[in-house]
Amino acid sequence: MLPLNLQGIILLWGDRLERLNIILQSAIYKNIVAEITEYEKDREFCRHTMQHFVDTARICYILILEDIMKAAYSDGKRSIFTKEVIYAAGMLHDIGRLEQYQTGADHAVKGAEIAGDMLSKAHFSPGEIELITTAIREHRRLPENPTYLGERLYKADKLSRPCYGCSVIDECRKKDLAKEFQDLKY
Ligand SMILES: [Fe+2]
Repeated sequence: MLPLNLQGIILLWGDRLERLNIILQSAIYKNIVAEITEYEKDREFCRHTMQHFVDTARICYILILEDIMKAAYSDGKRSIFTKEVIYAAGMLHDIGRLEQYQTGADHAVKGAEIAGDMLSKAHFSPGEIELITTAIREHRRLPENPTYLGERLYKADKLSRPCYGCSVIDECRKKDLAKEFQDLKY
């Protein structure tokens, strides 16, 4: 029964992340991630590692699968997703971190630009690029009316952090948020 269409969300079935894997194997992606790791080597708080990106992508996917299973979401809009679109948002959402460390730019804004370039080179369609880059732009601070994917990416980003086992939670600048997401849920 494909595609799955419940209350306005359509998840196109597909197991393959072929285009995303082109990005993940590219020198530019690997170099940016390696440089972020270098900048953060003495960081006491949560780091922005491959593990964080994978956790965010997986939790974002789970959140959307849960919405579909519960058929709980309906705002009258039709949103079309594939696993690859959701994973691309997760794997690229912090790609602007390096620029933030180097120039002070907002990593969500810069990340959307860098991701847009990578996605277009990997043959994502303009519609897919728009969904992913908007979600990346929204993941840092949710706007008043976030997109469906942006809202789930924001949540997944927080839920992927192990706040439940954190010894520096009281010094964390996100401690109010951290306390909200403190219980292990995914
Ligand atoms: Fe993140």
